[in-house]
Amino acid sequence: MKAFVFKETGIENLKLQEVNLPEGDGLRVKIRMAAINPLDYNAVAGNIVYGLNPVPHIAGSEAIGELLEDGKELKKGDRVIIYNRIFDSSCEMCLNGKEYLCENGGIWGIATNGAFAEEARIPEKNLLRIPEYITDLQAVSLPIAALTPFHALLRSGARAGEKLLVFGASGNTGIFSMQIGNIMGLDVYAVCRSDLCKVYDPVDVFTPDNIPENFRADLVVNPLGKETWEKSLKHTAIGGRMITFGVLTGREGITNIADLYTKEKIIIGSTGGSITELKKLLDIMKYHQLRVPVDRTFPFHDLPEALKYFKTRKNGRVIVDYTLK
Ligand SMILES: NC(=O)c1ccc[n+]([C@@H]2O[C@H](COP(=O)([O-])OP(=O)(O)OC[C@H]3O[C@@H](n4cnc5c(N)ncnc54)[C@H](OP(=O)(O)O)[C@@H]3O)[C@@H](O)[C@H]2O)c1
Ligand SMILES: [Zn+2]
Repeated sequence: MKAFVFKETGIENLKLQEVNLPEGDGLRVKIRMAAINPLDYNAVAGNIVYGLNPVPHIAGSEAIGELLEDGKELKKGDRVIIYNRIFDSSCEMCLNGKEYLCENGGIWGIATNGAFAEEARIPEKNLLRIPEYITDLQAVSLPIAALTPFHALLRSGARAGEKLLVFGASGNTGIFSMQIGNIMGLDVYAVCRSDLCKVYDPVDVFTPDNIPENFRADLVVNPLGKETWEKSLKHTAIGGRMITFGVLTGREGITNIADLYTKEKIIIGSTGGSITELKKLLDIMKYHQLRVPVDRTFPFHDLPEALKYFKTRKNGRVIVDYTLK
């Protein structure tokens, strides 16, 4: 099979070459579609040192595929979502249903080879059959872009009727924070600089610099880190919760500690989500559509172009469709 392999980081170092699928546990999955996230871009470009394993490495952490062999429950030909956390099913976190925090785990595509190959070998416990009512395009956004904000909102104890302010609302996770917020009955407000977030009917849209001075939200989702950290805490209501699962613009933010304690605000860290939550998302989609805006779709052999393009896109997801020639 062919895979995009790199030994040294840098998109220019990606080489499309023949590699052998490793023998061992897990089912052979033919990758059908992958979606690009900051994680993939940073892993390949080397912007963040993730401790990639193995080296040379195959990146790619959000993908769906088609089974090439029978498992115990899944069958050859099934369309499958790849749950992208490696987990041992035996540590305290796993035993408590928190596979995404596995003490001996990691992220597929970082701690192991990942999706940027024609095939991958995946443990059956990481595979979920895609129901017929879910398209490839919807499914490919579930393991990271949708699951992460879904888990974050559940973790924050979001209740219908609360006000939710989403930073980075036009981004991969932002479009799902808004849609899932709407499904949960929250009043959703968006912070973004492009028009994309208007599609999801937020109550109002602000740019990062024109959030009304007195605006306060019960819940603030902000995965952008440094540049908007102080602002997002400011716009969190008395007793409100600010949730972060990312540091897109930098790791260190200024926290007004007096504002935090005198108004009893709560900062919540969140990451990924559980398999149970991913299954719950599939169930929710029986009744609620999740819309996926696509900026551009690339065939697999153009993966380096897709990664380069990722940084400049404005209108939704960058998709790699392995069925395109
Ligand atoms: N922990 C986890 O499990 C997990 C999972 C997914 C993502 N993440 C992390 O979460 C972060 C966001 O991910 P994402 O995929 O949603 O990113 P994304 O698709 O790149 O979206 C980020 C959005 O933020 C806005 N933005 C960018 N720079 C900004 C700035 N300086 N000030 C204000 N807005 C800015 C942009 O929208 P406008 O230009 O329209 O304003 C952009 O659409 C990343 O750091 C990612 O690694 C973590
Ligand atoms: Zn574990």
